[in-house]
Amino acid sequence: MERTTIKDALKRNDFGEKINVKGWVRTRRGNKNVSFIALNDGSTIHNIQIVVDFNNFSEEELKTITTGAAISVNGILAESVGQEQNVEIQATEIEIYGTADPEKYPLQKKGHTLEYLREIAHLRPRTNTFGAIFRIRHHMAMAIHTFFHQRGFFYFHTPIITGSDCEGAGQMFQVTTQNLCNLKLDENGAIDYSNDFFGAPTALTVSGQLEGELGAMALGSIYTFGPTFRAENSNTPRHLAEFWMIEPEVAFIEIAENMQLAQDFVQFCVNWALENCKDDIEFLAKMYDNELVERLKFVVENDFVRLTYTDGVEILKNAVSKGKKFEFPVDWGADLQSEHERYLVEEHFKKPVILTDYPKEIKSFYMKQNDDGKTVRAMDVLFPKIGEIIGGSQREEDLEKLTRRAQEMNIPEKDIWWYMDTRRFGTAPHAGFGLGFERLMLFVTGMQNIRDVIPFPRTPKSAAF
Ligand code: 4AD
Ligand code: MG
Repeated sequence: MERTTIKDALKRNDFGEKINVKGWVRTRRGNKNVSFIALNDGSTIHNIQIVVDFNNFSEEELKTITTGAAISVNGILAESVGQEQNVEIQATEIEIYGTADPEKYPLQKKGHTLEYLREIAHLRPRTNTFGAIFRIRHHMAMAIHTFFHQRGFFYFHTPIITGSDCEGAGQMFQVTTQNLCNLKLDENGAIDYSNDFFGAPTALTVSGQLEGELGAMALGSIYTFGPTFRAENSNTPRHLAEFWMIEPEVAFIEIAENMQLAQDFVQFCVNWALENCKDDIEFLAKMYDNELVERLKFVVENDFVRLTYTDGVEILKNAVSKGKKFEFPVDWGADLQSEHERYLVEEHFKKPVILTDYPKEIKSFYMKQNDDGKTVRAMDVLFPKIGEIIGGSQREEDLEKLTRRAQEMNIPEKDIWWYMDTRRFGTAPHAGFGLGFERLMLFVTGMQNIRDVIPFPRTPKSAAF
């Protein structure tokens, strides 16, 4: 018989019909006459109840149907008398695909801690929590492609192995096929990359932006959506060494339109979650964060505040003078810490904030320089509970200014000549930004730790599974 997913089965009301479902046993309980199996196949947070009448099955057959076992059930669809669901299945045949020894299967009881579940990341997708999170993750990816497709953007694939350090922060993972125990050195004692696979030093990309700009300067509006890698040794609940980033890049727009695009984009995604992931979000709200739905709606319904970095620092300094304590000092010129960003968003404005025009010293070489000679047209979108969710900017389109800035920041022309060519030939104003996919996931799920919104997190000293 053809399999029905549990999600579809729960919507049916043609009681009396034959049905087949397959899944993993969540629990089995009952008495000496009847057994109730809660079965889940991942298609929905909800289980379907399988009713097993002992008149039709032997004790022996049922013994191995324990938590975690995979089974296929043929039965009759029936109206359920329990309050939790309308539909159940009265089993006529059960096939056991795989048992799960109750002495050894780690997911016996409910209520394991998230820390413990991280240690068994190969099995945690089978829990309610992680099933919900990974279904939402899929829906967020669909929302992202839908948003850009509807607006005429093209999905542009940028390389994962690269010779350039886009952000200039130097936190890259090297890529080599050289034997590290027997490195070939040249006459100056430096590593001789001519023998390496690519004949030059290469690394995993920290961002697809530079290549994304090449796409935008031909196709008009593009976006990337792929894995990015940063070897920053920050063991925080908001940093991963491998994370996914979405980077739209648009020709002929400036910073104001870039800010509006960022707001529309995030609001579209959050609204998509509210519309398409209702059951999963309600589950997470109930279990972890009862203000979740309210917070999501709030972001969809309210404009983001737009504010310069300089004004932001002013507000923070004012707060300090009125007694607010921060761990890190607030000074014009220094990068804002997460605590500062969250103060602006959660306490001062109580709204998402887009901060613009940062000091040029703390931002990348490619950002458009303002006339004041001190600031650049950067924009960071700051979110409640998350801090920075998006970083972006209008790009410097003037070849001379860009060349000067690259020199000041010691970026060799030989590494970026191809990027500079966009300014040499048919340059035009353009802008873009990067959204950290897992930061969006943190916001939408209400989870606290970024390790819990990606199936297999990579962090310092941890790349298991
Ligand atoms: O602010 P970032 O470094 O900006 C860029 O990479 C630009 N090239 C984007 C662009 O203009 N096209 O990173 C963008 C976003 C951050 O706002 C944050 O959400 C996320 O990427 N991010 C991280 N997420 C998880 N773990 C990390 N280690 C992250 N580093 C940045
Ligand atoms: Mg940033």
